[in-house]
Amino acid sequence: MRFIGCKEKLLDFIGDFVRQKDIKFKTFCDLFAGTGSVAKYFKRLGYKIISNDLLYFSYVLQKVYIEQNQYPKFIELIKYLGIDTFNEGLFISENQDAKSVINYLNNIEGIEDFIYNNYSPEGTQNQPNVRKYFTGSNAKKIDAIREKIEEWKGKGLLNEQEYFFLLCSLIESVPFVSNISGTYAAFLKEWDKRAFKTLTLETPEIIKSNEINEVFNINGLSLLDQIEEIDVLYLDPPYNERQYTPNYHILETIAKWDKPYIKGVTGMRPYEEQKSEFCNSMTGLKALEEIIKKNNFKHLILSYNDEGIIPEKEILGLFNKYGKVELVELDYQRYKSNSNGERKEKVKERMYYFVPLDQKKGTKELIRLTSTEIRKNENFLPLSSNNKTINDNLFPSDNLIIPNKSKTSIENKLNDLSGPEWLYFLNSVEVTHYPTNGSDGFAHYLRKKHPSPKPPQLMKKFIDFFTKENQNVLDPFMGVGGTLIACSLSNRNGIGIDLSSEYINIYRLVCKELGIKEQISIVGNSLQIDELLEKDTVVDFILTDPPYGEMLSKKRTGQRKKKTGEAVATPFTDYEVDLGNMDRDCFLESLKDVIQKSMKYLKPKGYIAIFVKDLQPKNRDHNMLHCLVTNKLLEIPNLSFRGYKIWYDATQKLYPFGYPHAFVANQFHQFILIFRKEK
Ligand SMILES: C[S@@+](CC[C@H](N)C(=O)[O-])C[C@H]1O[C@@H](n2cnc3c(N)ncnc32)[C@H](O)[C@@H]1O
Repeated sequence: MRFIGCKEKLLDFIGDFVRQKDIKFKTFCDLFAGTGSVAKYFKRLGYKIISNDLLYFSYVLQKVYIEQNQYPKFIELIKYLGIDTFNEGLFISENQDAKSVINYLNNIEGIEDFIYNNYSPEGTQNQPNVRKYFTGSNAKKIDAIREKIEEWKGKGLLNEQEYFFLLCSLIESVPFVSNISGTYAAFLKEWDKRAFKTLTLETPEIIKSNEINEVFNINGLSLLDQIEEIDVLYLDPPYNERQYTPNYHILETIAKWDKPYIKGVTGMRPYEEQKSEFCNSMTGLKALEEIIKKNNFKHLILSYNDEGIIPEKEILGLFNKYGKVELVELDYQRYKSNSNGERKEKVKERMYYFVPLDQKKGTKELIRLTSTEIRKNENFLPLSSNNKTINDNLFPSDNLIIPNKSKTSIENKLNDLSGPEWLYFLNSVEVTHYPTNGSDGFAHYLRKKHPSPKPPQLMKKFIDFFTKENQNVLDPFMGVGGTLIACSLSNRNGIGIDLSSEYINIYRLVCKELGIKEQISIVGNSLQIDELLEKDTVVDFILTDPPYGEMLSKKRTGQRKKKTGEAVATPFTDYEVDLGNMDRDCFLESLKDVIQKSMKYLKPKGYIAIFVKDLQPKNRDHNMLHCLVTNKLLEIPNLSFRGYKIWYDATQKLYPFGYPHAFVANQFHQFILIFRKEK
């Protein structure tokens, strides 16, 4: 779309600049997104995007290009319309449903509504201002399509994603038939040939991403109060005194469809509430200072050209007051519209790179988060295991069939597994026979100093299912590091915490012994996790095996007693704050506390997997710790329980408990409770 100040042609300049700076970042925020070209560029590179603009039609574009990660399916609408979905011969493409709906809209009959009655010469011929923005037939088409989208929405046939997808398609198509020289601030006296083309909707492109990207439609300054710290804040504000809404008023009206009171030669909508402070040099400079003072970004990039109303001297002065600034320039040829149409002219595009002075320094290594790579699609393997053949038909809808008839997974937001691998993990019981010696023992002879070291291979299964490569895993009760060893095996980044330096030292020794990467391990109390982690730490998954209250520190009966012949208490540590030394109620409260605090660092929709082992029933107490833990953790707002898996270590020996009087189970299995942070 043609849009004043659009950075489409400068994307490589911006991208190269960021690469040269060698900035390590995860979140990119485009505060003045406009067409969204810059946000789209960084979304394609795999960053998490937050984007915003005052204009509602810009928000519509962002809702699709930035927020949506897959094509809408239009299930209800297609059923209602009874249309066949688009078939393009050999290919079954992921946007075929969307294309069918777009095709349907392209063929509906025009109607006379707001656009026809106000912006076409036929519709305005009896009014004081005859307007020539669209031919009558295109104006009617816009009206019909826009009304239809609203009608479908009203009937509950469109979900939010589908609604914005159709709106985006319409907004993108309108400039191609508009009788203007660039903006809607005026229409041309004579018809431009583009106005005679028939309005045709195209299917918007969805950019794949593994991130949850967020889009907003508010004043950028207010947005900065509402979001957590971001890595790169990109500012591309208006340069001159012309406000954006009057320049794009018709697109704004089509997007909002509020049929406003309009006036004047151009049929202008009111825009008092959408005025930008950047269209005035004084208020613009003040607004820039306010943004800097919010100080919730690590790097700031400002795009501004040499014709901008805020002088370079003032901008440099401001940045120098708060930190370090660098300026780069690019000679750039752009089109400028004037009363005679368009002419070319040279401008200098400038980029200011600013780093605030009082940015927190220190152990950034701790939370170094590599950007998510844009992943290559994975081939589905025709896997067969345990004599069971996995049926490819189990995964039909997520597959793109390519000409050589192989299948490609289109999108997997959660992990890097193929369909069959995913399926194996869904088995609710995990039976293992892991050896404790040899290379598969993962230095068990060292790790066994801990009362219940978890097999790294088992932890790896959970990590592989709940994360992608290079993502981050937290274990607030790391012990001798089963989780962290698994992180190294799966190329994930791990952060572990434990009260005991002895256990952590064992973990470090194990890493040396095995020659694997040592992850971040912190000696400390997870009840005070906020003092241990950097504020801006973000993890993708929490996997932990907490010490079970009272279970190990009370006098032992049963299995351990029979094995060792003695009933000694085996607490994890002697610390009072060790959850393993607490009574049941205190244990449950403390576990809830740790999980609730850890959740602050977990991304939305991130999972938490917790190992729990039941106790033997006692009198009227069922002692099913997994139920008690589940109930307790469900007191945490925003946490949902998603189910469990059972782990059974088949190498354990059965004991004849209760023989020959009563039933006493060998409770070998452990529950792995799966929760999810919803927002
Ligand atoms: C130069 S354009 C951005 C162009 C964009 N980078 C692109 O490539 O399309 C400036 C944008 O800032 C928006 N804007 C101006 N003041 C704003 C404010 N206070 N908050 C949010 N958006 C604002 C305008 O609506 C306009 O879309």
